[in-house]
Amino acid sequence: EKNNFDHFMLKEIYEQPSAITDTYRGRLQVDAGLIRMAGVDDNLERFLNAKRIVIVACGTSWHAGLVAEYIFEDLARIPVEVEYASEFRYRNPIINSDDVVIAISQSGETADTMAAIKLAKEKGAFVFGVCNVVGSSISRETHAGAYTHAGPEIGVASTKAFTTQITVLTLIALKLAKAKGTISNSDFHMHLRELETIPGKVELALESNDHIKKVADKYKDARNCLYLGRGFNFPVALEGALKLKEISYIHAEGYPAAEMKHGPIALIDEEMPVVVIATRKGHYEKVVSNIQEIKSRQGKIIGIVTEGDTSVRDLADYVIEVPDTIEALTPLLTTIPLQLLSYHIAVMLGKNVDQPRNLAKSVTVE
Ligand code: F6R
Repeated sequence: EKNNFDHFMLKEIYEQPSAITDTYRGRLQVDAGLIRMAGVDDNLERFLNAKRIVIVACGTSWHAGLVAEYIFEDLARIPVEVEYASEFRYRNPIINSDDVVIAISQSGETADTMAAIKLAKEKGAFVFGVCNVVGSSISRETHAGAYTHAGPEIGVASTKAFTTQITVLTLIALKLAKAKGTISNSDFHMHLRELETIPGKVELALESNDHIKKVADKYKDARNCLYLGRGFNFPVALEGALKLKEISYIHAEGYPAAEMKHGPIALIDEEMPVVVIATRKGHYEKVVSNIQEIKSRQGKIIGIVTEGDTSVRDLADYVIEVPDTIEALTPLLTTIPLQLLSYHIAVMLGKNVDQPRNLAKSVTVE
């Protein structure tokens, strides 16, 4: 049921505060200062002895894997590789019995991800699933796992599945960081407390909806769009571009902001909207100078900024604010306006938001 929402996608975007809360319920124990996840606890030695973690997934779930790469490496100091399941399965990958493979899938039915899991198992790896659909094929095929508990996702464009996947992966990274001693006690507690504030901050980010609608109206006729971000927010730029492509059919590309000068900057002119994730934490000054480069070539700038920001506001055509948080958790907030922007553009263009052409909710063929 869509309740009072026009589309499942919008409903699911608005469900994110409660979905994220459901994801960490019973797991995140702030007062006790611990994270409980049976699938990790029962296999802790496998995780702690892993020389590396290989993440396999497709589409939006692959983007969640990329965010996780930054989080795992930063917090738990475990090398991470993120692979498209469809490439991994066909390229004779080097997998050892001391590797941990994490498969991420909302539906738990994606054929390529399933094949990658079977291959990793044959090679002796321990395979951990992060699925949303309980009892799905992937959740049964993996050795252990953690559900996202986001509730049913009906809209073909993945929204709450993405933010809850990141939440689960953050919990795992923090848990391993604590067990490995790669995070200080005070930093660990600070992360737990901050994670607990995220649903409320997502709620605040959603309050920009009317403003985002105006931005959407301004750029709905664009033929192309660029999305830029750095660090933890580089994968969010990829995800923002995918959301726009799949539901509005506008061509969009995501890039790490610093890669601009190696080619894509040639595309910039007064017709080109560029969405730049420029939150105050993480390479802020460098992103501001990337914005200056776009502006001097007449590009139109939509900045996703931390509330109260003034530097980007002075340069950008529009800014959309999100609440402040620690850098590792910014993707959970910066994703929200990008989802809403794509949604409104697609609706204004009269597209079938919940069932875009050529796409299916679960891709059970390769
Ligand atoms: C994008 C989208 C797809 C899926 C991909 C993987 O919005 O929905 O890119 O993310 O098909 O699906 P799952 O996560 O079910 O394996």
